[in-house]
Amino acid sequence: MPTSAPSPPRPAPAQEPPPLVPLARVPVHVAIIMDGNGRWARQRGLPRLAGHRAGTENLRRVIRRFGDYGVKFLTLYAFSTENWLRPKREVEGLLRLLRQVIRRELQHLHENGIRLLHIGRLEGLPPRLQQQVREAMDLTKDNERMTLTIAFNYGGRAEIVDAVRRIVAAGIPPEQVDEQVVAAHLYTAGLPDPDLIIRTGGEMRLSNFLLWQGAYAEFYSTPVYWPDFDEDDIDQALLAYSRRKRRFGRLPEDESDYPQPCGDGHR
Ligand code: FPP
Repeated sequence: MPTSAPSPPRPAPAQEPPPLVPLARVPVHVAIIMDGNGRWARQRGLPRLAGHRAGTENLRRVIRRFGDYGVKFLTLYAFSTENWLRPKREVEGLLRLLRQVIRRELQHLHENGIRLLHIGRLEGLPPRLQQQVREAMDLTKDNERMTLTIAFNYGGRAEIVDAVRRIVAAGIPPEQVDEQVVAAHLYTAGLPDPDLIIRTGGEMRLSNFLLWQGAYAEFYSTPVYWPDFDEDDIDQALLAYSRRKRRFGRLPEDESDYPQPCGDGHR
């Protein structure tokens, strides 16, 4: 856990973001566990919901920065299937914030070529909110600059359960079920797997986020609380990613005993 000393207030966001740093490699898909809103609020003697509100105010800057780097898919974990267990007041506040964010940001997202998607159990949300989410996805469905996916009422295990149910309901025989079939029945069907999963707030857990899709994602944790996660922190995360050697279960080329590729894979 980060220290409890309040971080000094960060300067107000500049009009012009700092210049991008040169990167050897940019991830196609970044997914973020936005943690630390509660602690951010507590440090300031504010109610937890004030932290969540500050978290929503950080969305624009983060989306813009990743977009400027050319990240094509950004997925944000906003509410888990387990978050219903939080106090009623906080749950209601988070539902209200999602409504407000869509109302406030939709036009801006649309004008900037961003396609909005939702993953999770939409049917578990209040009907008016479901409708609002569907309309937002419909409005932005042809946008191509970036796909912004909001995981709300999302759980990785629930997603796999739902995929199994769909596969069974579709009558697919067991011998035809392979990884492609499973992936095609997840909420994320059609999206590439995340290359980089970032967690703010200092913890080192996946917390039921993209369990299937994150199999080979690079994980990056920063102690910075979500409302403070700014351009500089994004640059650091992307720099760390660009230095990682991704192996996908293979040996790095310079450590292999065999000439690559090694034929039928049984040598
Ligand atoms: C975790 O912080 C954060 C959440 C449960 C909610 C994340 C929500 C937002 C950033 C705002 C809503 C965003 C959208 C898109 C509607 P925490 O409360 O667990 O923080 P703590 O670990 O410091 O207590």
